[in-house]
Amino acid sequence: MKKPYFNTLLHGGDYNPEQWLHSPEILEKDIEYFKKAHINEVSLGIFSWSVLEPEEGKYNFGWMEEIINRLYDNGISVILATPSGARPKWMADKYPEVLRVDESRHRNLYGQRHNHCYTSPVYREKTRQINIELAKRFGNHPGVIAWHISNEYGGECHCPLCQAEFRKWLEEKYQTIDKLNRAWATTFWSHIYNSFDQIESPSNRGENALHGLNLDWKRFVTDRTVDFVRHEIQAIRDAGSDKPTTINMMYDYQGLNYHKFADIVDFVSWDNYPQWHKKEEYLTAMDNGMQHDIMRSIQKQPFLLMESCPGATNWQPVSKLKKPGMLHAASLQAIAHGSDSVLYFQLRKSQGSSEKFHGAVIDHYGGDDTRTFKEVTEVGASLEVLKEVAGTQTEAEVAVVFDWESRWAMEDAQGPRNEGLYYKEAVEKSYYALRKQGLNVDVIDMEQDIDQYKIVAIPMLYMFRAGFEEKVRAFVAKGGTAIMTYWSGIVDETDLCFLGGTPHGLLDVFGIRSEEIDALYEQESNYIVPVLKEDCSVKIEFSQNWKCRNLCDIVKVSTAEVLGVYGEDFYAHTPALTKNTYKEGNAYYICADFAQGFYDELYTQIIAQTDIELPIKDIPDGVEVTTRQSEEYRYIFIQNFNKRPVEIEIKGGKIILGKYEDKKIPQLGTIVVRIPL
Ligand code: GLA
Ligand code: ZN
Repeated sequence: MKKPYFNTLLHGGDYNPEQWLHSPEILEKDIEYFKKAHINEVSLGIFSWSVLEPEEGKYNFGWMEEIINRLYDNGISVILATPSGARPKWMADKYPEVLRVDESRHRNLYGQRHNHCYTSPVYREKTRQINIELAKRFGNHPGVIAWHISNEYGGECHCPLCQAEFRKWLEEKYQTIDKLNRAWATTFWSHIYNSFDQIESPSNRGENALHGLNLDWKRFVTDRTVDFVRHEIQAIRDAGSDKPTTINMMYDYQGLNYHKFADIVDFVSWDNYPQWHKKEEYLTAMDNGMQHDIMRSIQKQPFLLMESCPGATNWQPVSKLKKPGMLHAASLQAIAHGSDSVLYFQLRKSQGSSEKFHGAVIDHYGGDDTRTFKEVTEVGASLEVLKEVAGTQTEAEVAVVFDWESRWAMEDAQGPRNEGLYYKEAVEKSYYALRKQGLNVDVIDMEQDIDQYKIVAIPMLYMFRAGFEEKVRAFVAKGGTAIMTYWSGIVDETDLCFLGGTPHGLLDVFGIRSEEIDALYEQESNYIVPVLKEDCSVKIEFSQNWKCRNLCDIVKVSTAEVLGVYGEDFYAHTPALTKNTYKEGNAYYICADFAQGFYDELYTQIIAQTDIELPIKDIPDGVEVTTRQSEEYRYIFIQNFNKRPVEIEIKGGKIILGKYEDKKIPQLGTIVVRIPL
């Protein structure tokens, strides 16, 4: 077990005192309020560059020093940001190369944030200098506990410097232009390259039909960003600070493969802004839970919830308030899924500019007698009670594969359903079905190991790379249960279609071969008719003939048992669900995009055939059960996301948080049970 970086649960968030230097009384009052709300952390300096370095090479750090000292004296620690998320105007004016060039090859004007080139030597040098200055001054301050590198990295730059780097990157990868031509299938439409010098990044005004190019560009953008983060961290280390580093990641952000950052930051953190009350709360909770698990699974370590909104955001289509109790439930959900913090954007609401109406702990009104302040204080109090949970781990016996690169390729490909493949939804169906049983679920990519699990779900894994098929083969051979779906194992790592049958390399493991895939119009559906044969090695029953939509795989069976067939169309009576026994394990193949209920019933029965122990039996709908664990204790979080109290049987352990009367958990209530191991 990795040593936890923080010995408590952090409560705090983004704070911009530089916006209030003209009102020192406000800054003093803030500290008083922080203490009242059990705030023990602030994230500082995220967009402070033009205050820190008002003119090139002239630094102004006094205000920051004063604030860090004052916070420290009051028991509040600081996560210090490097300011590269937005830069001063003087820099763009003097060195236009720091500005980004977009896909249509136009250089942006100065403005906004995150508007910089990751390759520009000038930008790298300026970033290095400011990071060194910051690290020299504050990098060993006892009040500074970690580094927040930049802010929400994202986007891409198509400037000449980046183009040159891209060509270099390709040359390193492919060595010869012939290899690249083969990998990208450039003979198609006569797009053969004669040399690496001819290659340009994809553009809506030029080349975007070579899927291999599009895919490698995305990989390159990730690698460039990783390289830039590494560069930023190096400056901090060179200046003598060894405090842990993180980058704050974003919800379902597809622009970067976050797994590639696993080895360069010390811990993962992310920003979560769910649209609560838009649909049933438990559905939003499931969606959030999956994002938390995606983030946690990157390093399989506790992470930080770096930003969340204490009230309503101002950028969503509708800025809905959180109903009473929602903030507490959402915050505790992060802890349940492995976060060691609840941090907000923002602590004090800015007076002007584009986020002046974004929710904050302290409003323009300025007092502490607001609903939001009260609810934030309640969250803080609960985190203090749960302090011992900091650093505890999440053990999972089941995993769902959710792969960025496969998603990039699948969604860029034309066919079989350009109107929507519903990849994320397919992953959710497996994830939700496992979570409804109260199991912790790792959400992993193809490069991670799968040996340690008992069940691995592989929904719509279009691309097989990193030797994935061999991992699956070994996993099933040793007794694991793999559950794969339609549209898996179709292409290799440069998006060339596999020859010789799909799912590639696993025809014998699954005992089937996918022959054709039918895409359904929006209004169409099919359904499953279960097959219950006496001599089946497993009996899977369904409460109804569940519907499927969107995609229906038509498969040929070799050794698999058919557990269900299609009910309609020309492929009626052909397999819709199969199971193969391969050596010691089982390999299920789900042929079509079935409704959630199908997944729930199937997974319940599959889990029952394994020796997986459920933390709590008979979990009512809308209740989330999640577990964290130390060497001494197991902590079971039970959260009720229904609009009414629910009854649930809790046996054994000690309830260390939450109301549990007459065996009931109130609406939006959270109970934490501690069980000695
Ligand atoms: C992002 C950013 C913050 C702020 C919030 C608003 O997460 O990192 O600076 O803009 O959004 O919700
Ligand atoms: Zn560039």
